[in-house]
Amino acid sequence: MTAISSPINLFEYEHLAKTHLSQMAFDYYISGAGDEITLQENRTVFERIKLRPRMLVDVSQINLTTSVLGQPLQLPLLIAPMAFQCLAHAEGELATAMAAASAGMGMVLSTLSTKSLEEVAEVGSKFSDSLQWFQLYIHKDRGLTRALVERAYAAGYKALCLTVDAPVLGQRERDRRNEFVLPPGLHLANLTTISGLDIPYAPGESGLLTYFAQQLNSALTWDDLEWLQSLSPLPLVLKGILRGDDAARALECGAKAIVVSNHGGRQLDGAIASLDALSEIVAAVNGKAEVLLDGGIRRGTDIIKALAIGAQAVLIGRPILWGLAVGGQAGVSHVISLLQKELNVAMALMGCSQLQDIDSSFLHFK
Ligand code: FNR
Ligand code: LAC
Repeated sequence: MTAISSPINLFEYEHLAKTHLSQMAFDYYISGAGDEITLQENRTVFERIKLRPRMLVDVSQINLTTSVLGQPLQLPLLIAPMAFQCLAHAEGELATAMAAASAGMGMVLSTLSTKSLEEVAEVGSKFSDSLQWFQLYIHKDRGLTRALVERAYAAGYKALCLTVDAPVLGQRERDRRNEFVLPPGLHLANLTTISGLDIPYAPGESGLLTYFAQQLNSALTWDDLEWLQSLSPLPLVLKGILRGDDAARALECGAKAIVVSNHGGRQLDGAIASLDALSEIVAAVNGKAEVLLDGGIRRGTDIIKALAIGAQAVLIGRPILWGLAVGGQAGVSHVISLLQKELNVAMALMGCSQLQDIDSSFLHFK
């Protein structure tokens, strides 16, 4: 590809972002686990499903509004939780939060953010109706988790999004090769006040993988969800579910929403594409909770395909980091607006004037 200075789609953002990032940061952001089979598969499934548009529908007004857990959104989109955003830009998660709230889309803040949850909530509080959730990784130290949940509730986050697909970190070989660590000046901003935890330097290994092994609780089970929900009134969202029976169990344990996800292909390599898991999970949930999806969303038509199978909204990961690396808040806003424009055009060409019109009759599976 020739050099791109003004990207017109999310793939071009990835190319441009590479020139704005250190090798270690770019590799960390882009990597999947192992042979990256699941990472690729997340894209392949979107390409495989074809659309059956409806003609002669009045599409002069397209309405993209929806709601997630009772909160309005201008777009059926949330920013997925992603660690270490200050690797991309000095304003990190604050710039991302500003861009998300300005666009009327949601944002899920990672436990492993490089700006504190309070600072990010402060950005959200400048907007009415901003949808911010806090993503939780559970440390071995229960007191630390309790403190994080209490802080997230006090700061105004609207849900706790527990990531359940990472009892240990997936093997990302580039991070191992690079001996991934945070550069000087960057810290686990949510954890400094509690315990001064940081990503260790681990010779011949990813420091993040080592951090997971040392600090996170790999013994977590369904039984712990009751304890977690006793810590605050926040609704529980489980992220990383890939099976209908797990989704049903999540509901029994009180989850109010499920994020169908394989962590962007970064955990179990060879895991099913999230889009391939969606219909089984939508059926198992049977309208009793909201089902969201992430993994591989890069085009407006991808959003339509996920919604047609039954997702209420989707989360988008890496392209947000590419926008952040290229232009901070303005870059993230541009990425969002590109996707929004694509979604508008796709809706019109599909003969759908509102998201509620989208159903499985619009899909063709080979
Ligand atoms: C992630 N993801 C992630 N998930 C999570 O629950 N907590 C986290 O801290 C992170 N951190 C993280 C860092 C980076 C660099 C990436 C790329 C991803 C996974 C993320 O929330 C989401 O599931 C995927 O990124 C979605 O796939 P796409 O859109 O990147 O293909
Ligand atoms: C990742 C972790 C932090 O995917 O969730 O890098």
